[in-house]
Amino acid sequence: MPALTTARSFNASQDSSSYLPVAVFIGGTAGIGRAMAEAFVRHTNGRVRVIIVGRNATAAAEMIAALPLAARERAEFVKCDMSLMRNIDVALSELAGRGITKINYLIVSSGLLPANGRQETDEGLDRTIAVVYYGRWKFIHGLQDALSAAVAAGEPAKVMSVLAAGEGGPIDLDDLGVKKNYSLMNVTRTDATYNDLMLEKFAQLHSEVSFVHAYPGVVHTNVAVNSQSWLLTMIYYLLYPVVMLVARSPEDCAELMWYAVHHSGKGLARVNGKGDDIGMKNWYGTEESVERLWEHTLDATKSRGAA
Ligand SMILES: *[C@@H]1O[C@H](CO)[C@@H](O)[C@H](O)[C@H]1NC(C)=O
Ligand SMILES: *[C@@H]1O[C@H](CO)[C@@H](O)[C@H](O)[C@H]1NC(C)=O
Ligand SMILES: *[C@@H]1O[C@H](CO)[C@@H](O)[C@H](O)[C@H]1NC(C)=O
Ligand SMILES: *[C@@H]1O[C@H](CO)[C@@H](O)[C@H](O)[C@H]1NC(C)=O
Repeated sequence: MPALTTARSFNASQDSSSYLPVAVFIGGTAGIGRAMAEAFVRHTNGRVRVIIVGRNATAAAEMIAALPLAARERAEFVKCDMSLMRNIDVALSELAGRGITKINYLIVSSGLLPANGRQETDEGLDRTIAVVYYGRWKFIHGLQDALSAAVAAGEPAKVMSVLAAGEGGPIDLDDLGVKKNYSLMNVTRTDATYNDLMLEKFAQLHSEVSFVHAYPGVVHTNVAVNSQSWLLTMIYYLLYPVVMLVARSPEDCAELMWYAVHHSGKGLARVNGKGDDIGMKNWYGTEESVERLWEHTLDATKSRGAA
């Protein structure tokens, strides 16, 4: 495990003076996504173009207003409720329209804890799985050309999905999208495995780009408080004293996550909450499941035929 001090000082060696890094944060208005955006601005002394994609415009405005001037002038917010795939299509065109045709770092951390049962959107997807899996997939898929453009320019191109590497479980290939056995446990583990499998396939298709699935560990964010599930909220308050003892601050977590991003090579890497590479530990995929989930997702996100 890298010491926090090592992780902090490591960023200094990341020389980006020859180009202006472009970093996109999907789900970047709160929690770890926000902390990673703020850390990146510190690391680069504000020499960065930060794009925040999220649901909460007020939070984004507050966050951008607090950035140092150099970063603030270049920072942008794109509003998107990514529980609906059509909203993501709109957001992707908006990003293209703003001239974001090259991306060096794409950090996806959008979250929504499961409700007490399946909540279907008018697109037929469960809201939680849409935000935590399908939407992440659709953004990574839709921004692939921009990542390739960074590679072509001889610059880093790295994607990190912050969710739960190593914390997944077996998935039901006859019930992709979890329409039948919906439960908090099932969905949480399935989301983690789906994220593994999607990055595996992206890494196969785009061998020039680095893909990282990270588990941030226990971090003190308000995601459970905002849960639609009374059960989760209750558990959170009951465990609060314990959580506070073991939880890392989002700021410390962000440093470890960046350390993992900068250390990732081409292909897929999986890292735990300490920033360590866990290899294929608790990997619940096969060649078949990677392919079947990919096919299912092309349909579910209405991305078939797209680039
Ligand atoms: C990261 O590196 C920069 C540039 O050397 C340095 O000024 C900054 O303090 C570092 N950030 C942190 C959080 O240590
Ligand atoms: C949006 O962010 C603001 C400012 O941080 C916060 O007060 C508000 O509760 C958030 N709204 C939602 C719906 O989360
Ligand atoms: C989901 O939960 C059911 C029991 O409610 C179990 O039989 C099934 O194996 C679980 N599926 C997954 C993918 O975890
Ligand atoms: C889980 O789904 C399977 C079909 O995939 C079904 O046979 C079984 O009854 C379900 N179990 C529960 C607890 O809903």
